[in-house]
Amino acid sequence: MLKVNSINVSYGKVEVIKQVSFEVNQGEVVVIIGANGAGKTTIMKTVTGLLKPTQGEISFEGNNTTRIAAEKIVKLGIAMCPEGRQVFPQHTVYDNLVLGGYLIRKDKNAFQKNLDYMYSLFPILKERSKQFAGTLSGGEQQMLAIARAMMSNPKLLLLDEPSAGLAPIYVKGIFDMIKKLADQGTTILLVEQMANMALKLANRAYVLETGCIALEGSATDIMNDPKVVESYLGSKKY
Ligand SMILES: Nc1ncnc2c1ncn2[C@@H]1O[C@H](COP(=O)(O)OP(=O)(O)O)[C@@H](O)[C@H]1O
Ligand SMILES: [Mg+2]
Repeated sequence: MLKVNSINVSYGKVEVIKQVSFEVNQGEVVVIIGANGAGKTTIMKTVTGLLKPTQGEISFEGNNTTRIAAEKIVKLGIAMCPEGRQVFPQHTVYDNLVLGGYLIRKDKNAFQKNLDYMYSLFPILKERSKQFAGTLSGGEQQMLAIARAMMSNPKLLLLDEPSAGLAPIYVKGIFDMIKKLADQGTTILLVEQMANMALKLANRAYVLETGCIALEGSATDIMNDPKVVESYLGSKKY
């Protein structure tokens, strides 16, 4: 579905992504694990067209997306939930979801269907629909941010560190939410520092170290890799 082939990405003269290749197949949950600064967000922004690689190619369902504009990539069916749950705090939960559904809002039936679907999967959002997003807990805001990305009915959902900055009790809730979406057949690319929980959820995994893919394999193999255990799982209690 998504194929990333040997991309390099730079900020000015500084190359932060080097020869990175990975793929996501339909129905899979794929996780890219990496420490702070490894280049996870840069990869996500490149897949969504916000950054352009200096080398390499990206394709989505056979379309070469390497040089096309971010808006067009959204229309092809890739939605991103960005790092730091950027909900609109002065807007209601409902209005945030409306904004996420802008691609389909002209089709009232499709919009209502998606809204009902999100409300049925995550009833707390329905309960809070008239509340300002800024009054939600951190965990609820993250849930809203993910549901908002889902409102465009994407073929591929990108999640950039959904657990970042959340208390452990909320982290579990967010991973439960992602599992629910995956069980419903959503194809997901997740990047995380929270390796343990992400690996439990994923089919396949890549380990990103200072801009390079250091390891790849099934989530089970990566979880049991001694290097991964030592560097990413040892001290993490989640
Ligand atoms: N806008 C930017 N300008 C220059 N360097 C950046 C910018 N954004 C990120 N970087 C650098 O690129 C590297 C990868 O960053 P990032 O993709 O945000 O990592 P991660 O998401 O894994 O924490 C880091 O060294 C970071 O300092
Ligand atoms: Mg990041």
